[in-house]
Amino acid sequence: MSQSAQQEFAFNKEDFERVRRTLYQKAGINLTETKDSLVYSRLARRLRALSLNSFDDYLTYLKRTPEEDENFINALTTNLTSFFREAHHFDALANYLRTHPGQRTIWCSASSTGEEPYSIAMTVAEVFDSFDNPVSIIASDIDSQVLAKASAGIYNSEATTKLTPHQCKKFLHKGKGSQKGKVRVVPELRKNVSFRRINLMDVTWPIRGPIDVIFCRNVMIYFDKPTQLNILKRMVALLPDDGLYIAGHSENFNKDSQIVTPVGKTIYKPVREGRRYG
Ligand SMILES: C[S@@+](CC[C@H](N)C(=O)[O-])C[C@H]1O[C@@H](n2cnc3c(N)ncnc32)[C@H](O)[C@@H]1O
Repeated sequence: MSQSAQQEFAFNKEDFERVRRTLYQKAGINLTETKDSLVYSRLARRLRALSLNSFDDYLTYLKRTPEEDENFINALTTNLTSFFREAHHFDALANYLRTHPGQRTIWCSASSTGEEPYSIAMTVAEVFDSFDNPVSIIASDIDSQVLAKASAGIYNSEATTKLTPHQCKKFLHKGKGSQKGKVRVVPELRKNVSFRRINLMDVTWPIRGPIDVIFCRNVMIYFDKPTQLNILKRMVALLPDDGLYIAGHSENFNKDSQIVTPVGKTIYKPVREGRRYG
């Protein structure tokens, strides 16, 4: 690791390894060895805010201060998302709701800044042609900062290009004055999504089955295979026999045929064995 002359804080290979180990323990996130400059730039803000001079001091502070965990994790998560990302999953959801009418629960388990759960809520409102429908949507993430943004439901207009003009009209309010260039998800839709902080690495989740559809997209890629399989098994235990597990485009469980079986592109249903509705 190179420590350039103009680097503000002392940061060496051992510090980077400690950050990697700590992040893995706390969030399951498996940072590759090349992410040292990302770690430096993301955590430098915390060192500045705490008036610390070195990563060694910061890591000692983190160890002694459990409240710092939240800032540490928030700084190191990657939150890339968008409305109707991987659009075929929302078509599959609409199809599922049409063929499984009635009370349903959907869990969006790495919801980031909210675009994904609001895309789910829009799909649901369109299927039922109503904001008052029998579908509950739970959205969660480990990162408290993205959850705050998600609850507010305010986005730059450019983020909504994948929505049809009809969807924009029905689901978004255009900002005026100081909010020009922004949009806000309408309150009728916001109330249909309940946000909470859940770390998928926690031994228990504050969530009860059955959950009919679980979106777990583009988060497993940050975990190693044993962690992925452990989370997948626990999620599958929450699904009914005809429930759906929806993965991200680079998350493939086709080889894990003892747990799930594919029913579409990165869409799976449970292979039933063991615990249910945990
Ligand atoms: C790349 S984003 C994916 C967002 C969305 N699911 C999508 O596909 O557009 C990954 C999200 O996973 C969250 N995350 C990372 N580790 C987590 C954990 N252990 N428990 C819950 N969420 C986690 C991050 O905070 C981040 O918001």
